[in-house]
Parts: sequence; structure tokens; C-alpha cells
Amino acid sequence: MPITTCVFDAYGTLFDVAAAARQAASEADFAAIRDDWPALADHWRSKQLQYSWLRAITGAHEDFWVVTQNGLDWAMEKTGHGGDTALRERLLALYWELQAYPEVPSMLAALKQGGMNTAILSNGSPAMLQGAVDSAGIGDMLDVSLSVESVGIFKPDASVYDLVGQHFACGRDEVLFVSSNGWDAAAATGYGFDTAWVNRSGEPQDRLPWTPAHVLDDLTGIPALAGL
Ligand code: LAC
Repeated sequence: MPITTCVFDAYGTLFDVAAAARQAASEADFAAIRDDWPALADHWRSKQLQYSWLRAITGAHEDFWVVTQNGLDWAMEKTGHGGDTALRERLLALYWELQAYPEVPSMLAALKQGGMNTAILSNGSPAMLQGAVDSAGIGDMLDVSLSVESVGIFKPDASVYDLVGQHFACGRDEVLFVSSNGWDAAAATGYGFDTAWVNRSGEPQDRLPWTPAHVLDDLTGIPALAGL
């Protein structure tokens, strides 16, 4: 089937998740993280994802904003910044204003001009996704932001990927699913979507039972992959 529907993971795929720590580190008030912000950002992201999987496996769902704060608290303690409440507040505020990667607006515009359905499918809560979409100014190029909150379990539970077909009334083989998370692109491949893994930093491929159909350095090749 031709692709009719392009669906994007949010954090790390459309929005640069390291931007919050990078931005805070550039501000005079937060010089304490000038040198170690990359480690702080990595630990934050890594724990946020681990907690999402553990909550999914154990049936202990909480919304992604809670999980994001839990991951940050672990990362701050790990990097020696535990108890710095001003830093914590600043990093959390910046998480609501993440910028999109530079190629995102033109890529989404090309998809819309080509008649594609476009959506976000994310662990993020509806409010978090609205904040990021608004601050990036890309809302009019997206048909919908689908949040796991409507099923109460995180990716890669299949009920999350089901949200796409339920919303657009399309088959799995009409969907190009795009994620910078290797595990997300792999699981979506297993689910039956066509998939693109956006591997900006040259990470090794995840050793999982499924392999993303396409691997890209950034998002500029998405319209061509969708057949435009
Ligand atoms: C999301 C996370 C996994 O947006 O990046 O769903």
C-alpha cells in the first residue's frame, strides 16, 4: 500500500531533548552545569525512558510529566546537583519550550502539500505535547498529537501504536512511523508499520527482534520515503 500517514515520535525526533540542559548551561545563573550538562542530559533521558518501560511492564502508569521529573531528580543527584531547586525549576520549564530540529517545519510542510496525514504519537501528556508544538510553531502542519494518556500505558505497548489506525482509519502498511529512538522504531516495525529510525548521532543499532526499514541521519528524507 502507498503511504498515506506519517507519524512522528516527539522527544528526540521532532524536538531536541538535550536543548533544555544545553540552554540552562549557557545561562549565567546555571554555570554549575557548564561542563557536565551533556552527562546530566544523557542521564535524564536515559532514566526517563527506563522508568517509562518499567511502569509499562509493571502496570504502574503515571503520566510522562511525573516520569520526566523522576528522571531529572535521579540525574541531578547522579551528577552532583541534587537539591539545586533553581536549576531543577529552570530545566523543567525549558522542557515545555523545546525547539524543533531545524528541518522540521519544511519537512512537515512538504508532507502536507503532498496530501499526507501527519501526527505525533508520543509518551508525552497532551499538555506537554501542546506546549512543545506551540513553542515550535508547527501546530498547523500536524493533524493531531496522539498521547499515550488515552490508553494509560507507555510505548512500546501495541495499544499505543493502535491509536494511529483508530484515529485515521488506515491500515498499518499505510503508515510511515518515524522515531529517533531505535527501540521505538524497532517495535513499530514489529507492529507492522513502515519505519524510519533517525539516527542523528551514529548510535549502534539496537539488538532487538525487529529492524527499522530505513535509517536516516535527519528528517529531510522523510517526504521521499513517504513517496512524494
Ligand atoms: C516519545 C518519547 C519516547 O515522544 O520520545 O514518545
